[in-house]
Amino acid sequence: MVESMTKNIILDLDTGVDDALAIAYALGSPELKLIGITGTYGNVLMQTGMDNDLAILDLLGAPDVPVFPGIPHAQESDDFEVLEISKFIHGKDGVGEVDIKASDRKPEDTDAVDFMIESVKKYGDDLVIVATGPMTNLAAAIRKDPTFKDNANIVIMGGALVTPGNVNAWTEANISQDPEAANELFRSGAKVTMIGLDVTLQTLLTYKETQQWRDLGTQAGTFLADMTDFYIKAYETTAPHLGGCGLHDPLAVAVAVDPSLVTCLDINMKVDVEGPTRGRTIGDETRLNDPEKTMKVAVGVDVDRFLKEFMSRITSVAESK
Ligand code: BDR
Ligand code: CA
Repeated sequence: MVESMTKNIILDLDTGVDDALAIAYALGSPELKLIGITGTYGNVLMQTGMDNDLAILDLLGAPDVPVFPGIPHAQESDDFEVLEISKFIHGKDGVGEVDIKASDRKPEDTDAVDFMIESVKKYGDDLVIVATGPMTNLAAAIRKDPTFKDNANIVIMGGALVTPGNVNAWTEANISQDPEAANELFRSGAKVTMIGLDVTLQTLLTYKETQQWRDLGTQAGTFLADMTDFYIKAYETTAPHLGGCGLHDPLAVAVAVDPSLVTCLDINMKVDVEGPTRGRTIGDETRLNDPEKTMKVAVGVDVDRFLKEFMSRITSVAESK
């Protein structure tokens, strides 16, 4: 692969088991250069998420990737507390309560929003931002720099268009943390691909696959297998009909590498921020007939091809570490 073919990527994460798998997917993708991780809150407090990012980067052999602190709570709130359900799904530490050596490194002094803005200015179309937590940092970047929305390429994991939510009948977890921020992003005119529950709940992992990582006999393989087994076990309680855990966040990274993994509906979207459907992601009736559609919503996914890519990329990272 020639250097000029690689795309720069920023991951905006609330790390979280599937966020950790998203890091591994990015590191296992020769098409991508991970230039930074920006911290957000959600599955865990932002600080915990960044500690997880640094530890995982060390474990997976990427100790030079910088981590930038973002905004630690929703824009309309002063505080954030981790929900009990998040602790149940991701573990109290976000990584399935599996031991991982803490990193000696610390997050950078530059904040996440400035890092995103500067990176979009520097790399333009050679950069993709993949956000797999609340959209608080992205909305702040849009507010701070009027050119950001026109130049950023964004893939998000969040929302649900034609399937029910996972927080309530209409709300997905990442959107529910900060519906105002997601609405700002969706209505900004920025180029956004939404990878929602419509597709991520079709891409499932089971103990059979995690055993393959454990069988590698490496530290990284064992960590990834044990961490993901915690998450699969939680899904046995929260969504037993699925028969596995949803690969939400890694699918968003996979689409950043290869958009042909999903089929999308071109549609201008909004998020309900008031009333009983607060947090619902749906077509924006005021922009439905605009000739220009700035959002793509994934409604179909090539499950077999994605799972093959997922296993080979993550295994390639885990086998040598
Ligand atoms: C999303 O919410 C978080 O719990 C996961 O990490 C994922 O980003 C799924 O709804
Ligand atoms: Ca996440």
